[in-house]
Amino acid sequence: MLDINKIREDFPILKREVNGKPLVYLDNAATSQTPKQVINAIVDYYENYNANIHRGVHTLSQEATDKYEQARQKIQKHFNAAKPYELIFTSGTTHGINLVANGFSSILKKGDEILVSAMEHHSNIVPWQMTCERTGAVLKVIPMNGEGELIMDAYDQLLNDKTKLVFCNHVSNALGTVNPIKEIIDKAHHVGAAVLIDGAQAAPHIVADVQKLDVDFYTVSAHKMCGPTGVGVLYGKEEWLKKLPPYQGGGEMIAEVTFEKTTYADLPHKFEAGTPNICGGIAFGAALDYMHAIGFENIAAYEHELLEYATQELLNIDGLKIYGTAEQKTSVISFNIDGLHPYDIGSILDKLGIAVRTGHHCAQPIMDFYKIPGTVRASFSFYNTMDEVDVLVASIRKAASMLI
Ligand code: ALA
Repeated sequence: MLDINKIREDFPILKREVNGKPLVYLDNAATSQTPKQVINAIVDYYENYNANIHRGVHTLSQEATDKYEQARQKIQKHFNAAKPYELIFTSGTTHGINLVANGFSSILKKGDEILVSAMEHHSNIVPWQMTCERTGAVLKVIPMNGEGELIMDAYDQLLNDKTKLVFCNHVSNALGTVNPIKEIIDKAHHVGAAVLIDGAQAAPHIVADVQKLDVDFYTVSAHKMCGPTGVGVLYGKEEWLKKLPPYQGGGEMIAEVTFEKTTYADLPHKFEAGTPNICGGIAFGAALDYMHAIGFENIAAYEHELLEYATQELLNIDGLKIYGTAEQKTSVISFNIDGLHPYDIGSILDKLGIAVRTGHHCAQPIMDFYKIPGTVRASFSFYNTMDEVDVLVASIRKAASMLI
């Protein structure tokens, strides 16, 4: 059992008011809030050992380097990666996907096929379209059903010896569906294809064991899991990271530079050009410490209770329809109310102190599938309460009565 009131004390922002009402923060799928343990790690860095890493002989630089590399090791342990250098620090999930998509531009050939799921975020669609344009590879889509689940028979049909890569999110940001990624990975490997899993939405709820999954690439953002924005990691199997060319050129990613020829540094530095988000990486490590102290299993169990309760209460509202009713879901509820525009509902909820996301959630193909312009999305975290669900439901009723 989690002591939610005690946990909420860790999040200073949860005490604030919005439009004269207590903040009810239900936009956790966009970004999670930051506990003081992580804020303190950021302050400690800037107050005590702010310096560039891997470069200086001086004490501050060494302290910063040690803490940054310790954070990498925490992340390695969290994802059970075999080697610390299989974790590349990035600016977030989008950066990780672009790094891999760019690398495959020099591997794929005309006529190769790459599969992408129908429920991807734009960040796992657009980079692959760019790769297809550069290489002549063909992008094919694994379809989904009305519940928002992938149609695995169709996936089986799409896989063949031309399939070189499969991309899929672990959890859909717009629907909350948890995809059967182990099955997706195993089937892709059977035809010799590599797999990249976008773990951005899964990471705050589910611990992915990259060795058990046998996944080739798995990428996350720190800010979805109590860390700061602008930092994330890409996990890649050593053999793949060695095969892919560097994404950006610059300092730190080289072994030797002459005007005639440059040789590249070993992993992970080959993919970490320029001064990284040092403080962000260290704070990401602090965020993982924080979440592990609460326990991911406890978090998942409690968020499931929030999901069940909120789903049941929301469905009692006249004309409310939930999009994404998969059996396996995280605590994300996308919905509309008959005849009302999601933006109007979201705007009234904001006036009542409630933060939700409205629109297409960077997943326009999903909205096209349901033939809707967008949804209202309430996404819950372990620091939300059942009382907040009640406030949400009462406020939606109020918004609907004002708009109808
Ligand atoms: N991808 C984030 C979301 O779903 C920003 O809101």
